[in-house]
Amino acid sequence: MATCYRNIASLVSPAEAVGELTVVTDAAMVVENGQISWLGKDIDRPSCETEVDLTGQTVIPGFVDSHSHLVFGGERSEEFANRMTGKKYEAGGINSTVTATRKATADELRKTTAKLVQELYASGITTFEIKSGYGLDVETEKLSLEIAAEFTDEVTFLGAHVVPKDSDPDEYTDLVAGKMLESITAKWVDVFCDKGAFSVTQARKVLTAGIAAGLKPRMHANQLSNIGAIALAVELDCASVDHCTFLDDADIELLKNSNTVATLLPGAEFSTRSPYPQGGELMNKGVVVALATDCNPGSSFTTSMPFCIAVAVRDMGFSVDQAVWAATKGGAMALRGDQGVLEVGAWADFVVLDAPNHIHLAYRPGVAIISQSFLQGRKVYERR
Ligand code: NIG
Ligand code: FE
Repeated sequence: MATCYRNIASLVSPAEAVGELTVVTDAAMVVENGQISWLGKDIDRPSCETEVDLTGQTVIPGFVDSHSHLVFGGERSEEFANRMTGKKYEAGGINSTVTATRKATADELRKTTAKLVQELYASGITTFEIKSGYGLDVETEKLSLEIAAEFTDEVTFLGAHVVPKDSDPDEYTDLVAGKMLESITAKWVDVFCDKGAFSVTQARKVLTAGIAAGLKPRMHANQLSNIGAIALAVELDCASVDHCTFLDDADIELLKNSNTVATLLPGAEFSTRSPYPQGGELMNKGVVVALATDCNPGSSFTTSMPFCIAVAVRDMGFSVDQAVWAATKGGAMALRGDQGVLEVGAWADFVVLDAPNHIHLAYRPGVAIISQSFLQGRKVYERR
């Protein structure tokens, strides 16, 4: 059955060109069997069994969140409060969530994840990746990945998130690249390659073992310092290298000439009071950039893509169009997927904004302007 969504003030979709959007005003869109079968001017719309009047709101593609850590126990609000009064963020804080995650039951972990997934839909995210990384032993990493797989196909093994307390770094790296990897199922393998986490040599070991086991590589890197991780990400053809807070000119050159997306995580800089990387400048230099929430209890406890867009526009040098591109098509490219666009033949993953245009995503920070989210034509969120 065909449903025509009509009376759309602006129908927005990323163009092929990095950072550019195409906008159809006074538009309509037809959805059939979960896919888009027609879009164009409202006045030209074909006749449909069902018509839905979107009352002059805006339609954009569902956001693609290519980076989240949704399986964990406990929370770290006190650590956040201490940071806001001057304490520095360190990778080692991850270990306190590891303790809480190991203590939690499978049902508790599943409930937390399910609640956060509902928040993602409410923030207009329809495709999302989930990482492990708060188990750091074979059993809890395996369980975390099984829970993640209940919610998404984009499941990432991050056994190499940090070296667990009282473990030897090289022995732990061998465990991750050996027994742990053999025991888990995931699509992606990730490593936190940075000061206080894993060295480039250790990251190479984990990622090459993951690739040999059939997983696809991605990385956390250059969040706290620059230890030369970008060259490894590009050499291994990582789909994405995430954080990129500290990049030098050589890194930018490498990224520009690669298939590796630079994924920026405004929530992390916001919540750790770190300098914001200038994503607009990266895009202008020809780097493909994505925006993601990095939702996790330590460095970025937000599920809000509109918040990330607002910060990107306000403080990271993105134009509004670049930020929306990065949160849709950019995110899809960071997962090597084809989501994040509205075109004939695409899945009808779309979001209705209670606004006359997409600029309101940044112009109305902190306001719940997402009025509905659809996944393959099925409504997964409606604002009450
Ligand atoms: O992406 N950088 C490493 N991992 C997370 C932080 C995890 C934590 O602090 O619990 C991140 O920001
Ligand atoms: Fe992360």
